Formats: sequence, structure tokens, C-alpha cells
Amino acid sequence: MEPAAKIGRLTRSSLAASCPAMNGGVVVFFAAVVAGALVSACWMSAGARVTSITSVATRAIAQNGAASPERGPTLPRLADPDTNRTPSAPPPRQQTQPAPAPEPAAAATPPPPPPSSCPVYFRWIHEDLRPWRATGITREAADGAAHRYGPKFRVTVVAGRLYVARYGRCFQTRDVFTMWGILQLLRRHPGRVPDIDLVFDCQDTPVVNAGGHTPPPPMFGYCGSESTVDIAFPDWSFWGWPELNIKPWEALRGEIAEGNAAVNWTSRAPYAYWKGNPTVGADRRNLLRCNASGKRNWNARIYAQDWRNEVREGFRESDLAKQCTHRYKIYIEGRGWSVSEKYILACDSVALMVRPRYHDFFSRGLMPMQHYWPIPGGRAMCRSIKFAVDWGNAHADKAQEMAGNATRFMQEDLTMDRVYDYMLHLLTEYAKLLKYKPTVPDTAVEVTVESMMHGRRGRERQFMVDTVVNGSGGGEPCELPTPFSSEELETLRRRQADAVKHVETWEKQ
Ligand SMILES: *[C@@H]1O[C@H](CO)[C@@H](O)[C@H](O)[C@H]1NC(C)=O
Ligand SMILES: *[C@@H]1O[C@H](CO)[C@@H](O)[C@H](O)[C@H]1NC(C)=O
Ligand SMILES: *[C@@H]1O[C@H](CO)[C@@H](O)[C@H](O)[C@H]1NC(C)=O
Ligand SMILES: *[C@@H]1O[C@H](CO)[C@@H](O)[C@H](O)[C@H]1NC(C)=O
Repeated sequence: MEPAAKIGRLTRSSLAASCPAMNGGVVVFFAAVVAGALVSACWMSAGARVTSITSVATRAIAQNGAASPERGPTLPRLADPDTNRTPSAPPPRQQTQPAPAPEPAAAATPPPPPPSSCPVYFRWIHEDLRPWRATGITREAADGAAHRYGPKFRVTVVAGRLYVARYGRCFQTRDVFTMWGILQLLRRHPGRVPDIDLVFDCQDTPVVNAGGHTPPPPMFGYCGSESTVDIAFPDWSFWGWPELNIKPWEALRGEIAEGNAAVNWTSRAPYAYWKGNPTVGADRRNLLRCNASGKRNWNARIYAQDWRNEVREGFRESDLAKQCTHRYKIYIEGRGWSVSEKYILACDSVALMVRPRYHDFFSRGLMPMQHYWPIPGGRAMCRSIKFAVDWGNAHADKAQEMAGNATRFMQEDLTMDRVYDYMLHLLTEYAKLLKYKPTVPDTAVEVTVESMMHGRRGRERQFMVDTVVNGSGGGEPCELPTPFSSEELETLRRRQADAVKHVETWEKQ
């Protein structure tokens, strides 16, 4: 049974009862107080105060653009790339091959700088698509993904227009803001996104095991792992997470940078900090043992979040830009990857990353001991945290450099420009593998800016207004780097493993 579908049907009490059995689960990142914060859907069901979030989410899903294709009121405040079109009109285009981008309209704008090479993590696009490189992707394979794995929606782009068929529900507005992001990509690069047909799952964990069918059914999701072949796509939070008052990444990224400038590393608390929901995942329970209140001082400050209070107080304590107050911040996964990762890494603190099992689209560009300090899971965790903190406090220059490396990655290689470039390159490479011409499924509905904004209020609407792409001014995307050779991949994996092993032996000395 699919957890997200369950949430829609079950009462709160039965949901709570069913939680331990939920496979994959739905982990929700709360902005509250710090960026380590996670809470599961189980918690969501536990408090009456929280009901409003769930019902808001349900209503939001019911109002989704795909479900309500009728036109909303016009949006005079939103400038459009082409003044001859309404904001919802798709770009005029296109054959199967993407056409070159049109020249920028304004004569006064200087010519765009020549495209630079994309960040190294873009090379993983080729790896994620490797299972289909020899065979291509057939309609049957895509249909197979749609039938076997209980995905939640299917995205089709034909001639620059976006169509969505829904198979199930996603938690809160994950799907809405994912579609919104794709829609903005189409506005940003009119005529450039090829015809595509992709099946999307919106759960916390990847679903298609490697070593199953060859070639496997192609499935897009928010994260992947070594043992699965799901294709990692930027998650919804880049366009905002209204239920948790997490702003769109471009704005938040700027605010975090300002916050960093206000409190330098030396003047931050010399401890490792984490706050969140400790009940999701065994390693989070292990992390609790590292708290300073225990018998030994592990140089960690671990807090369990009181989510009900945070919701009741209207996220008063949840300004992520003001939460980079410790020299070290712990990143630990919940059921799957956590969207908190980018907020933690942007903090200009040394990120102590507990043995991640999942990757999102950018995290494979991070190197242990260059961008973060690796921490083993399990019972060795506390000792390793203490070692990292003691080492960093004794080697402030090195520690600050590592913190700076991660922050630079987040601030330079993970701008929204790069996120859109990643989407464009991934979808373009994916489209090259299609053995069929995508057609709009019978059950699909066209999604436009107007249909998505129709009936939305509050933060949902605000975040859409804040992130709507007003012009095709994205410029040239960065250049996609070549695939890894097998030697390069092996070298990379060995370097990563060596760095982790190095820290382990170092600790034992
Ligand atoms: C960091 O901030 C403290 C307090 O504001 C100040 O005394 C110190 O000089 C700053 N250090 C650096 C390296 O800027
Ligand atoms: C960790 O210790 C601090 C300080 O003693 C305490 O305030 C906090 O509640 C503890 N955290 C947990 C999860 O028990
Ligand atoms: C920071 O990154 C650079 C490469 O970008 C690397 O040479 C350096 O070793 C890194 N610093 C630390 C402390 O890992
Ligand atoms: C697009 O224009 C609207 C209204 O002027 C503005 O609020 C929004 O921030 C703009 N979007 C972007 C991505 O700049």
C-alpha cells in the first residue's frame, strides 16, 4: 500500500496506528528552529493542532492545476517573456529536436556571457540514465513504471505545453511545486525543452530496485541510492514549502548568506547541533545518546523538536536564515534523504554528515573532508562527533575552509540558474533516449500558470508569485560535462571511501 495514498483515506487515529508499518513513509522537514529538523507523517497525525496542515494539504491537492484546468483570473502583475502572449500561453514551437533559444528581446541588454561548464555533479545525469543507454526507453517501459510502482503522476511535454496525469496523491503540495518548477523551466527556455513523457514518484525513498527488469522501468523521484535506479530530480522545496513556511531556495539562499556574514565562525557556539524528530530511523535514536545531558560530553547539542508548539506558534522560531549559530551542524537522514541538507550545508558551519544512504541530484558532487566531515552511523557516532568537534576547534583554519567549501558549493553551484540547467539537461538527455513520440495521455490535463494559481491563497500563492519566471532571460545553460569514464568513476568512489576510512583510522590513534 502506498503511504501517500493512505494518508488521504485514513483517519488520523488509524494513520497513527499504521505508521510503524509504513514502507518508505513520508518525512516532513520542518523549518522550525534549526535546519536539522525532521518529523514524520506519524507525528503529523499525533496532534490535533496539526490537523489544519493536513486538511490544507488535502484541499490544495484537490485544487491542483491538473485537477482544475479551467482558467483562473488573469495575472496582470506577472510579466511574460513575450508580451503578445498571456502568461499561460506556451511558447510557440517545436519539432522533436529542441530549437535554438530566441534572442533576448530587449535591445539594451548586453550579450549574455558565453556558457560555462556545468558543475561536476551534472555528470551524474549520464550515470542516472545509463540503464537505458543501450536500449533506449520504450513506451512500454514508461507504462511499466506507471503500472508496477504506484507512481503519483505522469508529466508529458508536447510542443512546449505541460500535461499532467495523476495516479495518486502526494504529501502536501510536493507534486504541485514540482509541476510548478517544470512549468517555469518551460517559460525560461521556450522552445528548448523537447517533448518528454516521464513517470514521477513523490515519496521519500526510491522505489525501483537495480537488478530487476533489464532495462528497468524509468522512474523520476527526489532521491536515489546505490541499490536503486530511480532518477533524481530537484525536489519541490526549491520553489518553496508553503506548509512549513520554507521560502523558495533563491530567496532563502540569499538570506542565509546574509546571516552567515553577521555571525562569523569563530564567534559561533563550538558544538555540533541538531534539532529534529528523533523517531524516524534508527540512527536518529543513536544520535540522541550523543547529547550533552548524558554521562559523557560528546560536544553535541541534540534537541527533539516540539512540532505541535512550532505549528501553534506560527513558525515564529523558524527563520532558517538565523539558524547558523553553531560551528558544526549535523546532517542525518530520516526515512529518505532530507531537504534540510542544502540549508545545513549553506550555513558556513562544518557539516557533520552521518552516513548518507540516499543522494539527491546534487549531493554526489560533495566530497568527504572537502565539503563535509563524514560520521559513521550506529553506536560509534557519538565518539566520532566529539572527535570532529575537538579536531575542528583545534584546527580552526582547516575547519573554516571546509565550512566555506560547502557554503560556496551551495551559493555558487546550486543557484536556481544551475537547478534549471540541471532540469533542462536531464530532460534533454532523457528525451534523446525515448524510442517513441510522446503523446498526451487520455487522462492528462494541461497545466498552466493560471490553472495552478487558480484558487490558491496565502503562502502557496505567494511562493508561486515569487518564483514565476517572467522572461526567457535564463540565457545559455551551462555546458553539460561528459560522462564519467569507468576509471574516473572508480577513482572517485575510491577517493570517497579512502577519505572516510582515513577519518576512521585517525580517530583510533
Ligand atoms: C568574529 O566576530 C567576533 C565578534 O564579533 C570578532 O571579535 C572577531 O574579530 C571576528 N573574527 C573574524 C575572523 O572576523
Ligand atoms: C539534550 O540536553 C539538553 C541540555 O541538557 C537538553 O535541554 C535537551 O532537552 C536534551 N535533548 C534531548 C533530546 O533530550
Ligand atoms: C576546499 O576545496 C578545495 C578545492 O575546491 C580543496 O583543495 C581544499 O582542500 C578544500 N579544503 C578543505 C579543508 O577540505
Ligand atoms: C516575476 O515578476 C513578479 C511580479 O513583478 C515578481 O514578484 C517575481 O518575483 C518575478 N519573478 C522572478 C523569478 O523574478
